[in-house]
Amino acid sequence: MNDLAPDTLRAIQHTERERFINSHPQSMALAHAAQQHYLFGVPLHWMRDWPSPATLFVAQAQGATLTCADGVRYADFCLGDTGAMFGHSPVPLARAISEQAARGLTCMLPATNAAAVGALLANTFGLPMWQMALSASDANRFVLRWARAITGRTQLLVFDGCYHGAVDDTLVDLDMASGNTLPRPSVLGQVHNHAAFTRVVPFNDLPALETALKHGDVACLLAEPALTNFGLVPPAPGFWEQARALCREHGTLFVCDETHTISTALGGYARAHRLEPDFMVVGKAVAGGLPCAVYGFTQTVAERMAQTKNAAPEGHSGIGTTLAGNALTLAALQASLEHLHTAANYDHMLDLAAVLEHGLRERIATAGWPWTVTRLGARMELQFMAHTPRNAQDVRDHAQGELEALTHLFMLNRGVLLTPFHSMLLVSPATTHDDVARLLAVFDELLAALRAPQHPQGSAPASRSV
Ligand SMILES: Cc1ncc(COP(=O)(O)O)c(C=O)c1O
Repeated sequence: MNDLAPDTLRAIQHTERERFINSHPQSMALAHAAQQHYLFGVPLHWMRDWPSPATLFVAQAQGATLTCADGVRYADFCLGDTGAMFGHSPVPLARAISEQAARGLTCMLPATNAAAVGALLANTFGLPMWQMALSASDANRFVLRWARAITGRTQLLVFDGCYHGAVDDTLVDLDMASGNTLPRPSVLGQVHNHAAFTRVVPFNDLPALETALKHGDVACLLAEPALTNFGLVPPAPGFWEQARALCREHGTLFVCDETHTISTALGGYARAHRLEPDFMVVGKAVAGGLPCAVYGFTQTVAERMAQTKNAAPEGHSGIGTTLAGNALTLAALQASLEHLHTAANYDHMLDLAAVLEHGLRERIATAGWPWTVTRLGARMELQFMAHTPRNAQDVRDHAQGELEALTHLFMLNRGVLLTPFHSMLLVSPATTHDDVARLLAVFDELLAALRAPQHPQGSAPASRSV
């Protein structure tokens, strides 16, 4: 464990748990009360996936600051795991939502701003045609259906360690020994054999990608441009250019899930790096955190979709939900695209994220720990391994669960929130230099608590920005 004695970790963990309990009496009481009517005491069981002894109950979230039931204020670098990437309740968004709320919420008909929102989507993300959903999970599910329908192919291709939401087809793992697809053992209630229709290959592995594509039966490659849900794993230089070319060569559509990677730059990673996806999906922060997701596609794909739909019998397509594209969501989306997805916001986020990355790197190097910081625009990860991970197996091989959990709780107890799923940090337009200074000061405290041994100069950890 990086020379960290498990006893040291456990002793600090114990102290931190006591500290949380003593300083959060209201959250402790609310957690107790919520046990009576919620499974695991929370509206969604993931809300217990934090390392604190009880769930933190939120009184208010504004900008980059979250205030809990006990009145403690946190510099929020989790930002709702990207849902609030542009800050909590940005003023233009809150105003648009309250104005639309008085004019109708949902009619199953397009609101008068629908055409304008379509133009804004095209302008922001660079694809001409769009459809809407309520979550990125839904959008991914619908895109998979379209991709299979228009290509007439059954197979789906994903990368090992992927997460694209609650999308059954993608909740599979790679058996490293055989290269076969395995059902993901944690998935509940699974009865369908998705392993029969989904291939999985390691990220950054072009030969494996080519082998999976060459049968000519893969409808689409569904991928994030960098893995963000299994530790942050950036693409190797040149990987996407070749992967993209392989997809074209084998008639496989490329679906780019930008739900997290819109942290990269205005319009997302694919636009910044000219990946030219056939479909793209964006959820979570696309409408500032209001439930909304969108998927875009090329004109050629749109024509194939129209032909396929027109050729199908009347009836349910299996695509869409009643509230998708509702008037409230469209109003929020319009305000977000006009006021949040802006060059000025991204300039602030990327500049400040660079300051944070630099501060973390400096401290890690000085302390001599073999740790890494990997950054993708406004999001970064503190990784407790000496090199930038190359694929999911690399992350598995270096997992430091106890140290991660301790880092989260230690920071939370000192007014800094990290994402509970690995040590992800996100910088919003509302994040300030003071917030960054606060995080770095707490990181100094953590390093002191861990009493890092000094390593000889020259053994500083590798760090990487993308
Ligand atoms: C890349 C990616 N796609 C899709 C999703 C699903 O988003 P949602 O849970 O909002 O449906 C997630 C969730 O974390 C994600 O990280």
